[in-house]
Amino acid sequence: MKDEGILAKRIYESRKKMGVTQEVLADKLGITPQSISRWENGQSRPDVDMLPKLAAIFGTTVDALFGYHAENLKITLYEENYKKVSRFWGGKIRRLAREILGLMPTDQPRTLLEIGCGTGEAATFFARNGYIVSAFDISDEAIKKADTLAKSVGVDVNLFRADLLTYKIETKFDIIYSSGVAQYIPPAERKRFFEMIQANTAVGGLNAINALVDKSFVDNASDLICGGGSLYDSAELFGYYGRNWRFEMMDEIYFDRNVSGVSHQHCIDLMIARKIAD
Ligand SMILES: C[S@@+](CC[C@H](N)C(=O)[O-])C[C@H]1O[C@@H](n2cnc3c(N)ncnc32)[C@H](O)[C@@H]1O
Repeated sequence: MKDEGILAKRIYESRKKMGVTQEVLADKLGITPQSISRWENGQSRPDVDMLPKLAAIFGTTVDALFGYHAENLKITLYEENYKKVSRFWGGKIRRLAREILGLMPTDQPRTLLEIGCGTGEAATFFARNGYIVSAFDISDEAIKKADTLAKSVGVDVNLFRADLLTYKIETKFDIIYSSGVAQYIPPAERKRFFEMIQANTAVGGLNAINALVDKSFVDNASDLICGGGSLYDSAELFGYYGRNWRFEMMDEIYFDRNVSGVSHQHCIDLMIARKIAD
């Protein structure tokens, strides 16, 4: 999205938020207040070499000034929500997590990576059941809460903040688990993402993933209430797992949710696949 109106609006709003006049901002940039006024009215735009300075003064990025990074807005939604409530997602341990216990018991040391761990209920559940758990999320607030939860039950979870779109997994895990997160992988990135996690799964290991699915009869406008993202086509998720993978479980289910008093439904595809060969 590239919109001159957005740039003008962002400059105006950021200046107001800083609580400075056009004169003060102009002074910081070594230009005239009239230039600022023209930017804010959308009559002209800052020169390219002025943009990084402007972004630095506002404590933001050039991309954000232009309204890029829609994904960040969604993440901000989580960041804010995680500040308001203790367990935004209700903290239930999902079937996807429970089935792993039977499919890969901890009779020997098993490493597990959780992608998008939120407030850490699943990560703590796995650690309590004897797995060696690493887990990350893009939200600082979520990681803090996950850490508090793990400590409160006395288990070790290697928690860290990372963006799944840029994070490079550097070691092989026995299990890679992710629930309620796959919709934040833009469609064009999905093939690369799944190849990356598959390459970093040990032979014999599992990938346990679910993904929200687009159905004509499910009100997916309401998915925005749950943080947006891009829904999957029905069965798309399964299609990322090819000839070296055996499905241990695959299903398509519907469930009801109520967020902020708004009832709605989701369709979700879930699967656990085992890597049979490299
Ligand atoms: C629906 S919640 C699911 C949380 C947890 N897995 C659960 O089942 O309760 C989605 C999570 O994905 C995280 N998330 C969104 N985009 C992400 C990204 N690019 N990288 C890592 N985590 C992300 C959010 O911060 C949020 O915690």
